[in-house]
Formats: sequence, structure tokens, C-alpha cells
Amino acid sequence: MCGIVAAVAGRNVVPVLLEGLRKLEYRGYDSAGLAVLNGCPSALLRLRSVGRVAELTAQADACSAAGGTGIAHTRWATHGVPSERNAHPHLSGGLAVVHNGIIENHEALRESLKAVGYVFTSDTDTEVVAHLVELKLRTIPDLFETVRAALGDLQGAYALAVMREDDASRIIVAREGSPLLLGMGEDGHYAASDASALLQVTRRMVYLENGDCAEITRAGLRIVRGDGTPVVRAVVESQLSADAVELGTYAHYMQKEIFEQPDALANTLEMVGNARSLQPGLFGADAEAVLGGARQILILACGTSWHAGLVARYWLEAIAGISCSVEIASEYRYRDSVPDAETLVVTISQSGETADTLAALQHAKGLGMQRTLAICNVPESSLVRETALRFITRAGPEIGVASTKAFTTQLAALYLLTLVMAKLRGRLDAATEVQELKALRHVPAAVQKVLALEPEIKAWAQLFSHKQHTLFLGRGRHYPIALEGALKLKEISYIHAEAYPAGELKHGPLALVDKEMPVIAVAPNDALLEKLKSNLQEVRARGGELFVFADADSEMVESEGIHVLRLPEHYGALSALLHVVPLQLLSYHVALVKGTDVDKPRNLAKSVTVE
Ligand code: M6R
Repeated sequence: MCGIVAAVAGRNVVPVLLEGLRKLEYRGYDSAGLAVLNGCPSALLRLRSVGRVAELTAQADACSAAGGTGIAHTRWATHGVPSERNAHPHLSGGLAVVHNGIIENHEALRESLKAVGYVFTSDTDTEVVAHLVELKLRTIPDLFETVRAALGDLQGAYALAVMREDDASRIIVAREGSPLLLGMGEDGHYAASDASALLQVTRRMVYLENGDCAEITRAGLRIVRGDGTPVVRAVVESQLSADAVELGTYAHYMQKEIFEQPDALANTLEMVGNARSLQPGLFGADAEAVLGGARQILILACGTSWHAGLVARYWLEAIAGISCSVEIASEYRYRDSVPDAETLVVTISQSGETADTLAALQHAKGLGMQRTLAICNVPESSLVRETALRFITRAGPEIGVASTKAFTTQLAALYLLTLVMAKLRGRLDAATEVQELKALRHVPAAVQKVLALEPEIKAWAQLFSHKQHTLFLGRGRHYPIALEGALKLKEISYIHAEAYPAGELKHGPLALVDKEMPVIAVAPNDALLEKLKSNLQEVRARGGELFVFADADSEMVESEGIHVLRLPEHYGALSALLHVVPLQLLSYHVALVKGTDVDKPRNLAKSVTVE
């Protein structure tokens, strides 16, 4: 988590730093800060705010902050509460440091630094880096070499930027486990946690690898590996559209991203736009061999991406006939499992920077599983660079902390994977293949029709805003959709929400149901509908108020305590893609009624780059 921006340029970089932070706020927004060097000899100015970047901007304006060299940070608190004293940059002597990640051995370092006289002014792990570099600077006068030496003492994950008061000509940056890239501008060089922060000054990016340490100056950049060997990294022209990260006419990014789903799905499915048959090559050059030889599938992911994996398990087992397990990445990496080298490991991630997912992939590879696939929304992400195969969802940048269009595009990608696996395993005849492709191509239009239900959903939202708890029910592949609906509601409206497979209700959760407990049911017209209806009767008999999302052709009747909203189409295996949309809209409108910060809910960050 946390976002970093750094700049050395032939102009005042304060506006660049602030604009970069604004773009990186999705990575954390507990506090923001910057430091700039100005004048000759340079004077270091540090500004910090517990509020958002807007407040930091006001501070910078008030004191006319300016300088040609600067570093900046937006924080998601890990060590130490959100407060000004814990906000970055942290200083030691004339040094300023910003950091994304976690220094795992910070306690031991803190004790040894205290023992030689350093006084700590924050509770953060980052402050040890500032003092450690300052200490080493006493014996190694070159900042680049000093930072490199200090890195050898650090354990954990970091992206770092360090600058020094008496040398405004350069900034030293380093990457180990947390994303960091360099930007090559017309009038200077830059560094940031992601490309969106630097599009304002350049499209020419250089992605650092783990273990890289770099020096940026106005004139150039220099990268070395941990052992000091110089290394050249490719310059990549970023394809990210600057407009794509603007809010436009929408009130919130989440709203924009919900309504972008038809386009996001159409873009993701573009590669099968006119196709009459599916090619494994959709997943990469070696896909036929990698996918075709897989004996089973292991899906690793977190949060919403994990829910996408849970839906895919139903598809992969039923349609492709391949055994599939789905694990929460943070659990998988720490348990003793039984590896099979011929397992296809599928990692799913919007950001491609989720620390737990990356570590779970490494763990699986370490256990001998080399058939790996990433389904990811960020082509330049760490995850994509670490798997044998990849499928890039083309949702476009997702800024709202609550994941929406990333989820539906992940589902589209996973359905394509299911069909390709089915074909490779001889379970998809040509006629069915054509039909399936046709159904997939219709998904964007079908989602568009579901979005038209917004006014009715908005009316329902009023009934939830004063509730403390909600239950979500689903069956089969719609149980993960119920899980996703519950996650969305708790994440942005702070209403406690739980999801259950509806058949499980009578084994315990039914005890929670009374007239104060609204129950939301995902009720497509599938083979389990009659069973689900019986479960809903169990709720109604205990006074629970039901909110049912049914299909156009379901015989679900409204009556007292039973509200029914019909989706325009009944969509078979792909209906999970449609049924999640009203749940996204419901959460969004409940959050609006409650007045929460929809795009930046409390305590969260968009990209979870710490363990
Ligand atoms: O970037 P990723 O897909 O790997 O992120 C995984 C989760 O952190 C993410 O889905 C999270 O659960 C969302 N905030 C849910 O809306």
C-alpha cells in the first residue's frame, strides 16, 4: 500500500508531486506528505497532513512551496496510527525518506539505532530507514552507495525514495517487493508507484525489478542490481489513457466503473469478437502445451478476485471436467499442501501487485508447479511478469476501492479459460463452441440492460440504510455472487453483511433472522431455484424481509415481506456476470444514503501491497 512520487526536474516539481499523489490516493489515504529541496545551498521543506492530498495541496499553496527536487507520499497506515508524526517523509539529519511496504526487522534496527543515539519521532517502520542511511552516510559519503549499503540491512518489502539536503541534484530509489517505476521526462526524471502518477509528465516508463536500486537526476538515470552491477531496463511506452483515470460526469469512480462494465466486457472479449472458434493462444504463446498438460487447477487470489475464482470452479468442473480448488492466497502460502507438478496455477488479481497473491504464486512455484497463468488488469504489473501465461482483462484503470468492473471482466476471462480447457480436453463440440461464443458476445448488451434497473435498486437502498446487519443468500455458482454482494455492502456502507449458500441457512444462521434482518437472495432461474425458494420460505416464516433478484422468467411473486426485482434476461451459465451488477448498484446506493466515502472507504486501500 502507500504511494510514492519522486521528481528531479528543471522546474518546480511541487505541482507534479501533488498531482501524482492525487492519482495514487487509491493506494492509501490515511495521510499525505512531501519534501522539496530548493535554493543553493538547498533548504529542505517538509509538509505533512493527516487529511487527504487536497489538504496537503492547501498547505503547499499557503507557503508557496517550490523546488526542483522532491519526494512525496500518500499513506495506508501499517505501523503507527494515522497522524502527522507518522506521516512520511521521515527525516534524519538532512535526509528525507518515503517508503511503501513493511520493514520486517524494524524493531531490531530501531533498538540498535537508539543505542547509537538516534531519537525516533514516529511509530513507523520507515523511520529506521532514514536513520540507518544517515548513520551509513558518516562512513560512505556517496548517497547512492550509502543507500545500497543500507538496503543490505533491511528485511521485508519496500519501494523507497531518499534525498539529501546538501545534494539537490539526485534522488535514490530502490525496489524490493513493492512496485516502483521510473519516468523519463523532457525536463527531468521521475519515480512513482505506478504509471498513472507520471502520465502528467511522460509516457516513457522504466519498470524496476526487485533488487534494483536507481539514481535519478535531471539529466538521466542509472540502475544497479543489489551487488552493484549496472543493469539496463527496457523503456516502455505506457498505453494507459490519461482520460481513463478522470471522473468525467460521474459522482464517484465506483459509479463510473459500474457503468463502464459493458465497455470493459466488450474490450476484454474483443479478441473473440468475430471468432468462430477458440484458440488457447488467447492465454499466451505456449498456452496449448501449458494448459493442455494440466491435470488439475489451483486458483489463488484475494477478496473480490477470490470470488471470481470461486465462480470459475463451478464452470471449470462442470464444463471442462477438470478438478479445481480455489484458495485464499494468504492462507495457501502458509499451509502445508500436497503439490502436484502438473497443476495449472491460476492467479487472479485486478492490480497484479497484491502481496499475498504474489507470494502465494512464488510458494506454488517453489513447490514445483510451473504451469502458471495470471488473469490480471494491469499489463505491466509484477504478477504478469511472473507467470508462464497471462490474460489481460481490459477493464481499464479501476480507481474505486470496491472492485466492480475488474470482477466482471475476470469472470469473462475465466469463462474463456473454461471453454479453452473444455476444448483441449475434448469436451466442447464445434456447434456448442459457436453457441458459447455467441452467448459471450451478448454479455455486454445484457449487462447494459441490467444497469437500467438502477432506479428500482435506488429505491430499495433507502430500506437498508438504517439496518445493522444483512444476510446474502445464493446457491451453486451464485453463492460466490452472494459473497461478493456482502463484501461490497460491508466495504462501502459499513453494514455488517454475511453470505451463505442458501441450503446452509438451517444449519445455524437462521437463528439470526427476525424482522430486523433483511435477506438478499440471488435467485436466477436455474436448476436450484425451487430449492432456493424453499430456503426463502424458511426466512419468511421467521419474519425476515426478503429482497430477491430473480430472472425475467422466474415465477417469483411479490407479497408482504417479499420484494422481487427481475433481471431482463435469463442467462444460463453466464448469469453470475449479470447477477452481480444489481448487488454492486445496491451497495453503491446504500453507501450514498449513508453518506460514506464511497471511493475511499475507511481503513482500506485499493492495492494491498503489504502482507
Ligand atoms: O488487486 P487484487 O484483485 O489482487 O485485489 C484483491 C483484493 O484486495 C480486492 O479484490 C479487494 O477485496 C476489493 N477491495 C474488494 O472490493
